[in-house]
Amino acid sequence: MIWKSFENIIEPHTPEAERLARIDPERIPRHVAVIMDGNGRWAAARDLPRIEGHRAGAESVKEITETSVRLGVRYLTLYAFSVENWKRPQTEVNDLMRLLRRYVQEDLPTLMKHKIRLQALGRLNELDYKTRVLVEKAIHSSRDNTGLQLNIALNYSGRAELVDAMRALGRQCAGGELNPQMIDEADIDRHLYTAGIPEPDLLIRTSGEYRLSNFLLWQMAYTEFYFSPVLWPDFRKIHYFEAVIDFQQRERRFGGVKKA
Ligand code: FPP
Repeated sequence: MIWKSFENIIEPHTPEAERLARIDPERIPRHVAVIMDGNGRWAAARDLPRIEGHRAGAESVKEITETSVRLGVRYLTLYAFSVENWKRPQTEVNDLMRLLRRYVQEDLPTLMKHKIRLQALGRLNELDYKTRVLVEKAIHSSRDNTGLQLNIALNYSGRAELVDAMRALGRQCAGGELNPQMIDEADIDRHLYTAGIPEPDLLIRTSGEYRLSNFLLWQMAYTEFYFSPVLWPDFRKIHYFEAVIDFQQRERRFGGVKKA
C-alpha cells in the first residue's frame, strides 16, 4: 500500500525504492517531530548568504511534508523558529519571517489539495502583525482538513510553553475552579500548545547536532531520537525513509519490560 502511494515518484530498483521496501507499513510513526538544523552551514559551504540556506530548507520542508502524507504519518511537527532565534541578526529574522509568510501564502493551495491541516505552536501574539495574520488565515482555511496535521513551531520554546500552562493552571486555582492537590498530568497536557495532539513517536534532528534545544520538552518523554549528519537543505525522502527504518528497529517499552 505504501509503494502504491510512491509509484509515480520513485523508480523501481533505485536506492529510494530499496529503502521504501524495508519500511513496515503497519508501523509508521504516527507523529514525527523535526529539528531542521544546518541551513546556515549549507549556505556557508557554498559562499552564499544564510537566507539562501533557509530558502533551500523550505524546499526540504515541502518534500518531507509530501513524503509524510504518502507514508501515512498523521502529525508532522517542524521547529521553524524558536523563542531564542530572536537573538539572530535582525536581517536574518526578517528574512525568516518573509519566507514563512511566502510559504503560508503560496503553499496554501498545495496544503488544501493534500487535505493538510496547518497548526502553529508557540507564542503567535509576539509575531509581527503581518506574519501573524497570514499564519492565522492559513490555519483557519485548513481547519477542516482531515489529512496530515502539520504543526509549525513558531516563536516556540518548550519552557515558555510550560510557563504558559502553569500560568493558566495558576489562574484556575486562584479562581477556585481547580484544587492544586488534584492537578495531574492530563491537566498539564490540556494546557500545552499541543493539547489534543499525541506525543511524538520519532524526533529527527539533522546536521549532526545532538541537542533538544528546548523543543517539546514535556511531550518527548518517550520519543525515539534519530540524529542525521545530513544538513537540512540536503535532507530528502531517502534520508527520511532511513529514519523510519531505524525507528522501526527500536523496541519501545515506555518504562515497562519486553513483552514475552
Ligand atoms: C536552523 O538552521 C534552521 C532554522 C532556525 C530555521 C528553519 C527554517 C526553515 C527551514 C525555513 C522555512 C520554514 C518553513 C516552515 C517554510 P541554522 O540556521 O541554525 O543552521 P546552522 O546551525 O548551520 O547555522
